[in-house]
Amino acid sequence: MENNQNKKSAVNWILFVATVVVVFIIGLFASSIIERRSEGQYALQMVKPIAPDEARNEVWGENFPREYETYMKTLETDFASKHGGSKMTDYLEKYPELVIMWAGYGFAKDYNQGRGHAYAIEDLRNSLRTGGNEISPMPQTCWTCKSPDVPRKMEQEGIAEAYKGKWKASGHEYVNPIGCKDCHNPETMNLQISRPALVEAFERQGKKMEDFTRQEMRSLVCAQCHVEYYFDKNVVEGAAYLTFPWDKGFSAEDMEAYFDELGFKDWTHKLSKAPMLKAQHPDYELFMTGVHAQRGVSCADCHMPYKSEGGVKFTDHHVQSPLNNVANSCQVCHREDTDRLVRDVYERQDRLEELRHLAESALAKAHLEAKVAWDNGATEKEMKPILTLIRHSQWRWDWVAAANGLGFHSPTEAMRVVGSAIQKAEEARRELAILLINKGVKYPPQLPDYSTKAKAQAVAGMNMAKLNADKQDFLKTTAVEWDKKAKERQGTLQEYKN
Ligand code: HEC
Ligand code: HEC
Ligand code: HEC
Ligand code: HEC
Repeated sequence: MENNQNKKSAVNWILFVATVVVVFIIGLFASSIIERRSEGQYALQMVKPIAPDEARNEVWGENFPREYETYMKTLETDFASKHGGSKMTDYLEKYPELVIMWAGYGFAKDYNQGRGHAYAIEDLRNSLRTGGNEISPMPQTCWTCKSPDVPRKMEQEGIAEAYKGKWKASGHEYVNPIGCKDCHNPETMNLQISRPALVEAFERQGKKMEDFTRQEMRSLVCAQCHVEYYFDKNVVEGAAYLTFPWDKGFSAEDMEAYFDELGFKDWTHKLSKAPMLKAQHPDYELFMTGVHAQRGVSCADCHMPYKSEGGVKFTDHHVQSPLNNVANSCQVCHREDTDRLVRDVYERQDRLEELRHLAESALAKAHLEAKVAWDNGATEKEMKPILTLIRHSQWRWDWVAAANGLGFHSPTEAMRVVGSAIQKAEEARRELAILLINKGVKYPPQLPDYSTKAKAQAVAGMNMAKLNADKQDFLKTTAVEWDKKAKERQGTLQEYKN
């Protein structure tokens, strides 16, 4: 009796285990079938195959109307959060100290908060930094993060060709704003890296793009552009070769050491003569130090969440501030209500803003006091350690300030880095105070008024009327010519207007 029962339970066990194994194997098949299907699915959906060199978003859009329609919503400009959103903000009006901090560099001419991807071409053409018909300082490389025409050109002519020559000489080639070809393979629709600088930076660290997971790719497509970079003039003759300074690591200090070792500077400060660095927008690098990245959340999870329409689930291509879409962006993972989540973001941003201003105020004064020191006979030798402090302070401030989202992507790291920027700026000012007193200057020295953008630009010795007139002239002539030529080349030219 007992023996029989033992036998029965053994048989049950065997049956149970066998069932589990079978279910598991069926599961494996099913998931691999689903994966295959999703790979093949997009090719089947295509009403019109997409040419490998197709840069026009509207042509891709014929195949994928939902993604295209939501992408076109990046033209909306009516959402403002406390520190971000799609409205344009003139940062130089808001923070005139910035003009002093960037004296002698393009950013002192104008610096606005970014807008949606569909504005990338228009905003670059309009920026005073790219100049006009007469003054046009930028290399062709400045188009690199603006347009799917960049991978098109690189495929047709080679990478280095796209980094050669002047910005103004090639504007007819770059007319389609950031879009489908920047992130997708036209045949499979898989995510794809189209910018060599990212691939090359990983290669130098012994990593290949194929090694990254799909979830990592959902951030890496953004890391093609939302990163720190510089132009290396020593890779290919005559080219401003786009390079990521990641060889020593991602942190502000690692990149600072990288640039110091190269002896690299973006410009010499017009007032303090410090050898300066300009941070671009190390969004990916700062984000990687935060808790969301550490828990495996990707940029797309918050900025391109899933959306449902008529029973179809797809990726919302309206890339924007997640605060305009908290339900899909945050509440997928967080149970708190919308007000609470928005407050969470603002609290972190407000704290960083407070520290940022301490750094800006100290840095603007440091540059002006350094000028007073030069004017009163300070020597190169006396100034060198002070100028190094200013260089490092402003780099660290900028590493955080230039990153989008006002520190939300990694609040603690952002605070730490700005904290060290304040310390270095104040140390420079202490050294300057000693030097000024030694030179017989009454301390504190009289500093000029830089309380508005216009006053600060006058202090920096800039002729804004001339820059503005040159820009208007350029927009009425050269830019119109570019569009005409581009239309001839492509056959059509889409207008990106709200
Ligand atoms: C956990 C969610 C989350 C993730 C993940 C995330 N972000 Fe953000 N991002 C935000 C929030 C919140 C803001 C602040 C928006 C605001 O102030 O209106 C923001 C702001 C931004 C902005 C500025 C938008 C604006 O309107 O001012 C950019 C650009 C940006 N993020 C890019 C990225 C990139 C690139 C990544 C990945 C490297 C990333 N984000 C990952 C939540 C996220
Ligand atoms: C080809 C380069 C490129 C890629 C790829 C790219 N971006 Fe951008 N992004 C830009 C540029 C340039 C702007 C500013 C456009 C403007 O202001 O005209 C921008 C603007 C934004 C904004 C709006 C900022 C604001 O202040 O309103 C957000 C949000 C954003 N990007 C997030 C992302 C995310 C998330 C990804 C990846 C899924 C991504 N971007 C991929 C270049 C890129
Ligand atoms: C900044 C990068 C970026 C740009 C630009 C972009 N996409 Fe996407 N796209 C993504 C991401 C991220 C996904 C999600 C992929 C995943 O999770 O594997 C996606 C998914 C898709 C998918 C798969 C179905 C879905 O909705 O999830 C299609 C189709 C697609 N995009 C079409 C387009 C089209 C058409 C354009 C141009 C109008 C475009 N994409 C522009 C990043 C981008
Ligand atoms: C894909 C899931 C996911 C999404 C989407 C997401 N979060 Fe989170 N969030 C997390 C995880 C996981 C943590 C870490 C919490 C932990 O491990 O205890 C976290 C932590 C946080 C924290 C505390 C940590 C910090 O950085 O200060 C805040 C605040 C936060 N999230 C806000 C947001 C907001 C706002 C959004 C939408 C813009 C958002 N999250 C979107 C998963 C997510």
